[in-house]
Amino acid sequence: MLRAVFAIGVAALLLVLAQVSLSDRAQAQQLRWRADYFPNVALTDHNGRTVRFYDHMIRGKVVAINFVYTTCTDLCPLDTAQLRRVHEALGDRVGRDIFFYSISVDSENDTPVTLRRFMRLFDVGPGWTFLTGSRADVELLQRRLGIRPPDPRNLREHDTRFIMGNERTGQWIRRSSYEDPQLLANILAENLNNHAASPSNRRQSYTQVTPAADNSRGAYLFRTRCSSCHTIGGGDRLGPDLRGVADARPHAWLNRWLREPDRMIAERDPTALALMRRYRNVPMPNLGLTESDANHIIDYMRRQDVARTQAASAPGGR
Ligand code: HEC
Repeated sequence: MLRAVFAIGVAALLLVLAQVSLSDRAQAQQLRWRADYFPNVALTDHNGRTVRFYDHMIRGKVVAINFVYTTCTDLCPLDTAQLRRVHEALGDRVGRDIFFYSISVDSENDTPVTLRRFMRLFDVGPGWTFLTGSRADVELLQRRLGIRPPDPRNLREHDTRFIMGNERTGQWIRRSSYEDPQLLANILAENLNNHAASPSNRRQSYTQVTPAADNSRGAYLFRTRCSSCHTIGGGDRLGPDLRGVADARPHAWLNRWLREPDRMIAERDPTALALMRRYRNVPMPNLGLTESDANHIIDYMRRQDVARTQAASAPGGR
Protein backbone atom coordinates (compact mmCIF):
# COMPACT_ATOMS: atom_id res chain seq x y z
CA MET A 1 0.00 0.00 0.00
CA LEU A 2 2.69 2.45 1.07
CA ARG A 3 4.73 1.47 -1.94
CA ALA A 4 1.80 2.19 -4.23
CA VAL A 5 1.29 5.67 -2.72
CA PHE A 6 5.01 6.35 -3.14
CA ALA A 7 4.89 5.23 -6.78
CA ILE A 8 1.94 7.50 -7.50
CA GLY A 9 3.77 10.37 -5.77
CA VAL A 10 6.86 9.88 -7.93
CA ALA A 11 4.76 9.63 -11.08
CA ALA A 12 2.95 12.88 -10.24
CA LEU A 13 6.26 14.64 -9.57
CA LEU A 14 7.66 13.43 -12.89
CA LEU A 15 4.55 14.69 -14.64
CA VAL A 16 4.91 18.14 -13.08
CA LEU A 17 8.60 18.27 -14.06
CA ALA A 18 7.76 17.24 -17.62
CA GLN A 19 5.17 19.99 -17.87
CA VAL A 20 7.53 22.63 -16.53
CA SER A 21 10.23 21.81 -19.05
CA LEU A 22 7.63 21.67 -21.83
CA SER A 23 6.27 25.13 -21.11
CA ASP A 24 9.85 26.45 -20.86
CA ARG A 25 10.54 25.08 -24.28
CA ALA A 26 7.31 26.50 -25.72
CA GLN A 27 8.21 29.88 -24.30
CA ALA A 28 11.73 29.68 -25.69
CA GLN A 29 10.32 28.89 -29.10
CA GLN A 30 8.05 31.93 -29.01
CA LEU A 31 10.92 34.14 -27.88
CA ARG A 32 13.02 33.00 -30.80
CA TRP A 33 10.55 34.76 -33.03
CA ARG A 34 10.50 38.14 -31.36
CA ALA A 35 12.19 41.44 -32.17
CA ASP A 36 15.81 40.47 -31.60
CA TYR A 37 15.33 37.40 -33.77
CA PHE A 38 14.43 39.24 -36.99
CA PRO A 39 17.14 41.02 -38.94
CA ASN A 40 16.28 44.64 -39.69
CA VAL A 41 17.80 44.46 -43.19
CA ALA A 42 17.14 47.20 -45.75
CA LEU A 43 15.16 46.16 -48.83
CA THR A 44 13.98 48.21 -51.83
CA ASP A 45 10.28 48.09 -52.62
CA HIS A 46 8.67 48.19 -56.09
CA ASN A 47 8.44 51.98 -55.88
CA GLY A 48 12.18 52.28 -55.24
CA ARG A 49 11.77 53.18 -51.57
CA THR A 50 14.10 51.74 -48.92
CA VAL A 51 12.28 49.86 -46.16
CA ARG A 52 13.58 48.01 -43.12
CA PHE A 53 12.34 44.47 -42.64
CA TYR A 54 11.60 44.61 -38.95
CA ASP A 55 10.74 48.27 -38.40
CA HIS A 56 8.63 48.92 -41.48
CA MET A 57 7.43 45.56 -42.73
CA ILE A 58 6.51 43.34 -39.82
CA ARG A 59 6.56 45.21 -36.52
CA GLY A 60 3.12 44.98 -34.88
CA LYS A 61 1.58 43.50 -38.03
CA VAL A 62 -0.06 40.36 -39.40
CA VAL A 63 1.86 39.46 -42.55
CA ALA A 64 2.15 36.91 -45.36
CA ILE A 65 5.59 36.59 -46.93
CA ASN A 66 6.86 34.58 -49.90
CA PHE A 67 9.96 34.49 -52.08
CA VAL A 68 9.76 34.81 -55.85
CA TYR A 69 11.69 35.99 -58.90
CA THR A 70 10.08 37.65 -61.86
CA THR A 71 11.60 35.57 -64.67
CA CYS A 72 10.39 32.37 -63.05
CA THR A 73 8.33 30.17 -65.38
CA ASP A 74 7.50 27.32 -63.02
CA LEU A 75 6.27 27.72 -59.48
CA CYS A 76 6.27 31.47 -58.80
CA PRO A 77 3.37 32.20 -61.16
CA LEU A 78 1.34 29.56 -59.31
CA ASP A 79 2.37 31.01 -55.91
CA THR A 80 1.51 34.50 -57.03
CA ALA A 81 -1.85 33.30 -58.36
CA GLN A 82 -2.51 31.48 -55.07
CA LEU A 83 -1.58 34.50 -52.97
CA ARG A 84 -3.76 36.61 -55.24
CA ARG A 85 -6.74 34.45 -54.29
CA VAL A 86 -5.86 34.75 -50.60
CA HIS A 87 -5.81 38.50 -51.20
CA GLU A 88 -9.24 38.37 -52.87
CA ALA A 89 -10.66 36.35 -49.97
CA LEU A 90 -9.41 38.93 -47.43
CA GLY A 91 -10.66 41.92 -49.43
CA ASP A 92 -9.81 45.38 -48.13
CA ARG A 93 -8.28 44.05 -44.92
CA VAL A 94 -5.07 43.66 -46.93
CA GLY A 95 -3.18 46.91 -46.55
CA ARG A 96 -5.23 47.78 -43.45
CA ASP A 97 -4.42 45.13 -40.85
CA ILE A 98 -2.83 42.37 -42.96
CA PHE A 99 0.19 42.94 -45.23
CA PHE A 100 1.57 40.85 -48.10
CA TYR A 101 5.23 40.79 -49.11
CA SER A 102 6.84 39.02 -52.07
CA ILE A 103 10.61 39.22 -51.82
CA SER A 104 12.84 38.53 -54.80
CA VAL A 105 15.59 35.91 -54.58
CA ASP A 106 17.11 37.22 -57.82
CA SER A 107 18.77 40.45 -56.70
CA GLU A 108 20.83 40.66 -59.88
CA ASN A 109 17.87 40.87 -62.25
CA ASP A 110 14.96 42.10 -60.17
CA THR A 111 14.73 45.87 -59.90
CA PRO A 112 11.76 48.05 -58.94
CA VAL A 113 10.97 48.27 -62.67
CA THR A 114 10.83 44.48 -63.24
CA LEU A 115 8.88 44.07 -59.99
CA ARG A 116 6.28 46.61 -61.12
CA ARG A 117 5.97 44.89 -64.49
CA PHE A 118 5.40 41.53 -62.77
CA MET A 119 2.77 43.08 -60.48
CA ARG A 120 0.91 44.54 -63.45
CA LEU A 121 0.99 41.19 -65.23
CA PHE A 122 -0.57 39.45 -62.24
CA ASP A 123 -2.90 42.32 -61.46
CA VAL A 124 -1.64 42.50 -57.88
CA GLY A 125 -3.96 44.39 -55.53
CA PRO A 126 -3.28 47.01 -52.83
CA GLY A 127 -1.48 46.17 -49.58
CA TRP A 128 0.87 43.79 -51.38
CA THR A 129 4.47 44.97 -51.72
CA PHE A 130 7.18 43.43 -53.90
CA LEU A 131 10.74 43.88 -52.72
CA THR A 132 14.32 43.23 -53.69
CA GLY A 133 17.58 43.43 -51.73
CA SER A 134 21.15 42.21 -51.64
CA ARG A 135 21.57 38.46 -51.90
CA ALA A 136 23.22 38.22 -48.48
CA ASP A 137 20.36 40.11 -46.80
CA VAL A 138 17.64 38.11 -48.52
CA GLU A 139 19.42 34.84 -47.64
CA LEU A 140 19.67 35.86 -44.01
CA LEU A 141 15.99 36.72 -43.99
CA GLN A 142 15.09 33.38 -45.54
CA ARG A 143 17.11 31.44 -42.99
CA ARG A 144 15.47 33.29 -40.12
CA LEU A 145 12.04 32.57 -41.56
CA GLY A 146 12.79 28.87 -41.95
CA ILE A 147 13.02 29.02 -45.74
CA ARG A 148 15.93 27.35 -47.52
CA PRO A 149 17.86 29.93 -49.61
CA PRO A 150 18.22 28.77 -53.25
CA ASP A 151 21.42 28.03 -55.10
CA PRO A 152 21.83 31.24 -57.18
CA ARG A 153 22.78 29.12 -60.20
CA ASN A 154 19.58 27.14 -59.91
CA LEU A 155 16.79 29.46 -58.80
CA ARG A 156 14.19 27.03 -60.18
CA GLU A 157 14.74 24.93 -57.08
CA HIS A 158 13.81 27.75 -54.71
CA ASP A 159 11.66 27.14 -51.65
CA THR A 160 8.21 28.53 -52.43
CA ARG A 161 6.48 28.06 -49.08
CA PHE A 162 4.51 30.91 -47.54
CA ILE A 163 5.30 32.34 -44.15
CA MET A 164 2.42 33.83 -42.23
CA GLY A 165 2.84 35.50 -38.90
CA ASN A 166 1.78 37.97 -36.29
CA GLU A 167 4.78 39.85 -34.98
CA ARG A 168 2.86 41.14 -31.99
CA THR A 169 1.90 37.70 -30.66
CA GLY A 170 5.04 35.95 -31.93
CA GLN A 171 3.06 33.27 -33.80
CA TRP A 172 4.54 32.18 -37.12
CA ILE A 173 3.28 29.52 -39.52
CA ARG A 174 4.86 28.06 -42.66
CA ARG A 175 2.57 26.54 -45.30
CA SER A 176 2.93 24.89 -48.69
CA SER A 177 1.97 27.00 -51.67
CA TYR A 178 -0.43 24.25 -52.78
CA GLU A 179 -2.70 24.90 -49.80
CA ASP A 180 -6.31 25.99 -50.28
CA PRO A 181 -6.25 29.83 -50.56
CA GLN A 182 -9.42 30.12 -48.45
CA LEU A 183 -7.72 28.18 -45.65
CA LEU A 184 -4.68 30.48 -45.81
CA ALA A 185 -7.00 33.49 -45.70
CA ASN A 186 -8.71 32.06 -42.60
CA ILE A 187 -5.37 31.59 -40.86
CA LEU A 188 -4.44 35.19 -41.54
CA ALA A 189 -7.84 36.62 -40.69
CA GLU A 190 -8.55 34.60 -37.56
CA ASN A 191 -5.74 32.54 -36.07
CA LEU A 192 -3.18 35.29 -36.43
CA ASN A 193 -5.52 38.17 -35.91
CA ASN A 194 -4.53 41.09 -33.71
CA HIS A 195 -8.19 41.38 -32.61
CA ALA A 196 -10.23 38.39 -31.46
CA ALA A 197 -12.71 37.31 -34.14
CA SER A 198 -16.33 36.98 -33.11
CA PRO A 199 -17.54 33.37 -32.93
CA SER A 200 -20.18 33.93 -35.61
CA ASN A 201 -17.53 35.16 -38.05
CA ARG A 202 -15.45 32.16 -37.36
CA ARG A 203 -18.23 29.70 -38.04
CA GLN A 204 -19.10 31.36 -41.27
CA SER A 205 -15.65 31.38 -42.74
CA TYR A 206 -14.96 27.76 -41.87
CA THR A 207 -18.03 26.68 -43.77
CA GLN A 208 -16.65 28.55 -46.76
CA VAL A 209 -13.96 25.86 -47.10
CA THR A 210 -16.10 23.46 -49.04
CA PRO A 211 -14.83 19.89 -48.92
CA ALA A 212 -14.04 18.49 -52.34
CA ALA A 213 -16.46 15.74 -53.37
CA ASP A 214 -14.06 14.22 -55.91
CA ASN A 215 -11.05 12.58 -54.24
CA SER A 216 -9.31 11.40 -57.41
CA ARG A 217 -5.70 12.28 -58.20
CA GLY A 218 -6.87 14.43 -61.10
CA ALA A 219 -9.20 16.44 -58.84
CA TYR A 220 -6.46 16.87 -56.23
CA LEU A 221 -3.95 18.07 -58.83
CA PHE A 222 -6.46 20.43 -60.37
CA ARG A 223 -7.41 21.89 -57.00
CA THR A 224 -3.85 22.44 -55.83
CA ARG A 225 -2.05 23.32 -59.09
CA CYS A 226 -4.61 24.83 -61.44
CA SER A 227 -7.63 26.29 -59.70
CA SER A 228 -6.02 29.57 -58.66
CA CYS A 229 -5.73 30.43 -62.37
CA HIS A 230 -8.55 28.39 -63.93
CA THR A 231 -12.13 27.30 -63.39
CA ILE A 232 -14.11 24.71 -65.35
CA GLY A 233 -17.29 26.52 -66.28
CA GLY A 234 -16.91 29.31 -63.71
CA GLY A 235 -15.36 31.96 -65.98
CA ASP A 236 -11.83 33.23 -66.58
CA ARG A 237 -9.30 33.86 -63.82
CA LEU A 238 -5.68 34.68 -64.68
CA GLY A 239 -6.06 31.94 -67.29
CA PRO A 240 -9.01 30.86 -69.45
CA ASP A 241 -12.11 28.96 -68.30
CA LEU A 242 -11.28 25.35 -69.19
CA ARG A 243 -14.82 24.19 -69.90
CA GLY A 244 -14.84 21.91 -72.95
CA VAL A 245 -11.07 22.15 -73.46
CA ALA A 246 -10.51 18.38 -73.04
CA ASP A 247 -12.55 17.78 -76.18
CA ALA A 248 -11.65 20.94 -78.06
CA ARG A 249 -7.88 20.32 -78.14
CA PRO A 250 -6.10 17.22 -79.51
CA HIS A 251 -5.10 14.96 -76.61
CA ALA A 252 -1.36 14.96 -77.42
CA TRP A 253 -1.28 18.77 -77.64
CA LEU A 254 -3.11 19.11 -74.35
CA ASN A 255 -0.97 16.57 -72.51
CA ARG A 256 2.22 18.28 -73.63
CA TRP A 257 0.84 21.73 -72.88
CA LEU A 258 0.11 20.73 -69.28
CA ARG A 259 3.66 19.39 -68.84
CA GLU A 260 5.78 21.97 -70.67
CA PRO A 261 3.88 25.07 -71.75
CA ASP A 262 7.11 27.11 -71.43
CA ARG A 263 8.81 24.98 -74.10
CA MET A 264 5.81 25.21 -76.42
CA ILE A 265 5.75 28.98 -76.02
CA ALA A 266 9.53 29.08 -76.71
CA GLU A 267 8.97 26.92 -79.82
CA ARG A 268 6.32 29.42 -80.91
CA ASP A 269 3.50 26.91 -81.07
CA PRO A 270 0.76 28.93 -82.84
CA THR A 271 -2.07 27.93 -80.44
CA ALA A 272 0.10 28.71 -77.42
CA LEU A 273 1.08 32.12 -78.79
CA ALA A 274 -2.52 33.02 -79.63
CA LEU A 275 -3.58 32.08 -76.08
CA MET A 276 -0.74 34.09 -74.54
CA ARG A 277 -1.79 37.17 -76.46
CA ARG A 278 -5.38 36.75 -75.32
CA TYR A 279 -4.39 36.35 -71.69
CA ARG A 280 -2.26 39.52 -71.38
CA ASN A 281 0.99 37.55 -71.73
CA VAL A 282 0.69 35.85 -68.34
CA PRO A 283 2.53 32.63 -69.16
CA MET A 284 1.00 29.33 -68.13
CA PRO A 285 3.66 27.92 -65.74
CA ASN A 286 5.56 24.66 -66.05
CA LEU A 287 4.48 22.82 -62.88
CA GLY A 288 6.71 19.78 -63.34
CA LEU A 289 3.82 17.39 -64.02
CA THR A 290 4.44 13.89 -65.38
CA GLU A 291 2.63 12.49 -68.41
CA SER A 292 0.44 10.40 -66.12
CA ASP A 293 -0.41 13.44 -63.91
CA ALA A 294 -1.41 15.35 -67.03
CA ASN A 295 -3.67 12.45 -68.11
CA HIS A 296 -5.31 12.34 -64.68
CA ILE A 297 -6.04 16.07 -64.96
CA ILE A 298 -7.41 15.72 -68.50
CA ASP A 299 -9.70 12.88 -67.32
CA TYR A 300 -10.86 15.06 -64.46
CA MET A 301 -11.62 18.02 -66.75
CA ARG A 302 -13.57 15.70 -69.06
CA ARG A 303 -15.56 14.26 -66.12
CA GLN A 304 -16.41 17.80 -65.03
CA ASP A 305 -17.71 18.59 -68.54
CA VAL A 306 -19.83 15.41 -68.57
CA ALA A 307 -21.21 16.15 -65.08
CA ARG A 308 -22.11 19.65 -66.20
CA THR A 309 -23.92 18.41 -69.35
CA GLN A 310 -25.80 15.80 -67.30
CA ALA A 311 -26.81 18.38 -64.71
CA ALA A 312 -28.02 20.66 -67.50
CA SER A 313 -30.16 17.97 -69.17
CA ALA A 314 -31.55 16.54 -65.91
CA PRO A 315 -35.15 17.49 -65.07
CA GLY A 316 -35.07 20.77 -63.20
CA GLY A 317 -31.47 21.41 -64.32
CA ARG A 318 -30.33 24.43 -66.28
C1 HEC B 1 -0.32 31.10 -62.87
C2 HEC B 1 -1.55 30.81 -63.53
C3 HEC B 1 -1.76 29.46 -64.15
C4 HEC B 1 -1.69 28.21 -63.56
C5 HEC B 1 -1.26 27.89 -62.15
C6 HEC B 1 -2.14 27.26 -64.56
N1 HEC B 1 -2.45 27.92 -65.71
FE1 HEC B 1 -3.23 27.11 -67.40
N2 HEC B 1 -3.11 28.87 -68.35
C7 HEC B 1 -2.75 30.06 -67.76
C8 HEC B 1 -2.78 31.11 -68.75
C9 HEC B 1 -2.46 32.57 -68.50
C10 HEC B 1 -3.18 30.51 -69.95
C11 HEC B 1 -3.35 31.18 -71.33
C12 HEC B 1 -2.17 30.83 -72.18
C13 HEC B 1 -0.93 31.56 -71.78
O1 HEC B 1 -1.00 32.77 -71.61
O2 HEC B 1 0.10 30.89 -71.61
C14 HEC B 1 -3.38 29.09 -69.67
C15 HEC B 1 -3.80 28.18 -70.60
C16 HEC B 1 -4.21 26.89 -70.28
C17 HEC B 1 -4.81 25.96 -71.21
C18 HEC B 1 -5.13 26.20 -72.68
C19 HEC B 1 -6.58 26.55 -72.85
C20 HEC B 1 -7.02 26.35 -74.29
O3 HEC B 1 -7.97 27.04 -74.66
O4 HEC B 1 -6.44 25.52 -74.95
C21 HEC B 1 -5.06 24.82 -70.52
C22 HEC B 1 -5.69 23.54 -71.04
C23 HEC B 1 -4.60 25.02 -69.17
N3 HEC B 1 -4.08 26.30 -69.06
C24 HEC B 1 -4.69 24.09 -68.17
C25 HEC B 1 -4.08 24.24 -66.91
C26 HEC B 1 -4.04 23.19 -65.95
C27 HEC B 1 -4.70 21.82 -66.10
C28 HEC B 1 -3.32 23.67 -64.89
C29 HEC B 1 -2.91 22.94 -63.64
C30 HEC B 1 -2.09 21.78 -63.85
C31 HEC B 1 -2.95 25.05 -65.19
N4 HEC B 1 -3.43 25.34 -66.44
C32 HEC B 1 -2.24 25.90 -64.34
C33 HEC B 1 -2.42 30.26 -66.45
C34 HEC B 1 -2.23 29.25 -65.51
